[in-house]
Amino acid sequence: MHLNRCIFFSTHMHNGPIGFFDSGVGGLTIWKAVVALLPNESTIYLADSAHAPYGEKTPEAIYERSRIATQFLISKGCKLIVVACNTATTNAVALLRQNFEVPFIGIEPAVKPAALSTKTKSIGVLATKGTLTSALFKRTAAQYAETHQINIVERVGEGLVPLIENPHRNEQVLREKLDHFIAPMRAAGVDFIVLGCTHYPLIAEVIQEIAGPNIALLDAADPVAKQTKRVLLKHQFETASAALVSHQFFTTGNPSDFDGVLMQLGGVGFPSAIRVGL
Ligand code: DGL
Repeated sequence: MHLNRCIFFSTHMHNGPIGFFDSGVGGLTIWKAVVALLPNESTIYLADSAHAPYGEKTPEAIYERSRIATQFLISKGCKLIVVACNTATTNAVALLRQNFEVPFIGIEPAVKPAALSTKTKSIGVLATKGTLTSALFKRTAAQYAETHQINIVERVGEGLVPLIENPHRNEQVLREKLDHFIAPMRAAGVDFIVLGCTHYPLIAEVIQEIAGPNIALLDAADPVAKQTKRVLLKHQFETASAALVSHQFFTTGNPSDFDGVLMQLGGVGFPSAIRVGL
């Protein structure tokens, strides 16, 4: 722990980039919101696609991948790290905060806004097994279920992350899986489905089509971007000028698959992802 503190203080600069990591391309949905809100900031994004999905791993294995990703981002001079993954946040962010000095921003399923807004008193949460079984998520869900007297229909989106990571996926298989997860939510009368995995907004159109017009989808990209800004200001880490802004992308998987998703999100004109073995 002492060593990590030394590394952080000797390399961080106010003009350093904001680091992001996820098990793959999903965290780009968070990256996009942060870049839109903080246009002066440079970023480094690491997609750990070779080790996705995190959601099926043990908490220990999720921490280990998160630690490796964090060390990589710190070695690149990142001044702040956005854990752009619900599974890594709910299983590993507490330990990351204990072991590294760099500030972390985490992301958790948006249960709170759904609980505050539901009219039917029933909400759905679609997330990974790792997120839904984490102590952090269970505590939050139980708290809101009790204080707002709502029913929460939780479903593990088993197999969704590998399909979303795969540019050659079978769309019919994706639809069948989604229908299987969403049917019980519809039957329970939910009026919100919380997309509790940063990969899921990448297929929001299909989810919305299957959920139907009476159900709204909620993700946490904008609140996380706002929180990133707050933390940046609190530490006085903000970059004053956009003159030297740069965005770099690294992946442990296939760079062209990564670039395809970045293009889908409107990320034209950015450098191609670089493959790293971590
Ligand atoms: N994007 C990750 C999340 O938000 C996906 C986890 C996984 O790889 O299973 O949970």
